[in-house]
Amino acid sequence: MTTLYEISQLVDEQIRSDKAPTYLDFYERTFSAVRETPLNILEVGVLNGGGLLMFARYFPNARLLGVDINQPPALFTQRLTEWGLKDRVRVVQGSQNDSAFMTSAIHSFFGNELLDIVIDDASHMYRRTRATFDLVFYSHLRPGGHYIIEDWGCGYWPKWPDGSPNGRRGLPRLVKELDDLVALEDQTRLWQGKRAMKVSETQPSPIDHMIVMPAVVALVKASR
Ligand SMILES: C[S@@+](CC[C@H](N)C(=O)[O-])C[C@H]1O[C@@H](n2cnc3c(N)ncnc32)[C@H](O)[C@@H]1O
Repeated sequence: MTTLYEISQLVDEQIRSDKAPTYLDFYERTFSAVRETPLNILEVGVLNGGGLLMFARYFPNARLLGVDINQPPALFTQRLTEWGLKDRVRVVQGSQNDSAFMTSAIHSFFGNELLDIVIDDASHMYRRTRATFDLVFYSHLRPGGHYIIEDWGCGYWPKWPDGSPNGRRGLPRLVKELDDLVALEDQTRLWQGKRAMKVSETQPSPIDHMIVMPAVVALVKASR
């Protein structure tokens, strides 16, 4: 069977995704078992559309929605038509932190169906990425669904707009907050008469587990 990397190479070089082979290996390992399943996939941050074209061919029964503040180039639309993907791939223009836009974009393409996979490869900035997570993870991702944030390490770069070398701002800050969320049950557990958070009952985490790798953070939503 053709690998995700091999499929990525079928996309014209000028619109090909710049996802590095390590990212593609991760996606292959995580999703090869469900490759033929009808999936609902959201990619936030489309650029030239190479990632969407690649995933659309890798997942032949998936529907894919892309969201970006800019429109992809004409070559992307041309390839969608030539490769017969127009019915199951759509791109809409808007910002990831505009919750009314995001809600309407998701509903108009997927109806009331929940998402199976979300890939946030858009601004890579704390507030916008957090806004997308707060909306999409809680309201649109199915229990057991995957939520992936790419390129979080750029938040350590001193010249990144919200970067800082100590990792207290930008996406490293978000990763720490997500880590806290994984530990919500312990934070809210009564221990020696005290709780880390002001709640009266232990609260289960909305996250089943989280994988943190260089460049990619991947969460699986709790099934409860
Ligand atoms: C790294 S590129 C995406 C690459 C693409 N996923 C791929 O695999 O080829 C980041 C994209 O995010 C978009 N973007 C930046 N800020 C955004 C925002 N606030 N809302 C939506 N998209 C945004 C940019 O226009 C750019 O196209």
